Amino acid sequence: MANASTSHELPRHIAIVMDGNGRWARRRLLPRIAGHRQGVDALRRCIRACAERGVQVLTVFAFSSENWSRPQDEVSGLMELLGKALTREVPQLQRAGIRLHFVGERQALSEGMRHALAQAEADTTGNAGMVLNVCFNYGGRWDIVQAAARLAERGAPITEATLAGAMALAHVPDPDLLIRTGGEQRISNFLLWQCAYSELYFTDALWPDFDAAALDAALAAYAGRERRFGRTSEQLAQAGAAG
Ligand code: IPE
Ligand code: IPE
Ligand code: MG
Repeated sequence: MANASTSHELPRHIAIVMDGNGRWARRRLLPRIAGHRQGVDALRRCIRACAERGVQVLTVFAFSSENWSRPQDEVSGLMELLGKALTREVPQLQRAGIRLHFVGERQALSEGMRHALAQAEADTTGNAGMVLNVCFNYGGRWDIVQAAARLAERGAPITEATLAGAMALAHVPDPDLLIRTGGEQRISNFLLWQCAYSELYFTDALWPDFDAAALDAALAAYAGRERRFGRTSEQLAQAGAAG
């Protein structure tokens, strides 16, 4: 459950739709996969910047349920990139104390990939730093359905609380801030349940260009928002004065 606040605070949990890699590459007459490679570099910088600022949870959308519809060579390129990024980045994440979780349907991934994901999670499970959720083969509709199916299987009652507890991000609070780069203003089947009260921030910056200054601009916009959670501004002012 999120707390009401008129925050000049830092979001505890930031979720990001990392969009615009393909356009970044096209503008340079490069193949799309070159943009995805730059996207991995941008993610590395973003993880560091979020951890430095004291963000507790970062959740990124790396591959959607719908991205299987892309050309076969792009899909296989993205799979390969994930594999390479794991080998290269996990030791660094480990040193930074980051706890890694992969979120999404894993059955469709190769056995080798599933093993690598599980190993990366196991390697970082004891870490006490920022939680990093990488949504891979994730869709918000898939998440709601898998949660409901698990409850049905157990014969458990379906309530907001039980459903929330069965969702793929049950280990973290809901995102306070959802950032989407690349100029599109849509959710594209990301965290449909969890973003019910997230502040939305859209920027034209393409993901490979998203740097610390761009992150700070998003944080500044967030700090200026009034999170009312259905209440009135007057109620929030009163609660603030009392508390
Ligand atoms: C986001 O960048 C990365 C993934 C969806 C994997 P895109 O590849 O969607 O980049 P654009 O939107 O084509 O520029
Ligand atoms: C959303 O981006 C998915 C990821 C960033 C992984 P897309 O580029 O796939 O979204 P649409 O197709 O433009 O909505
Ligand atoms: Mg896109």
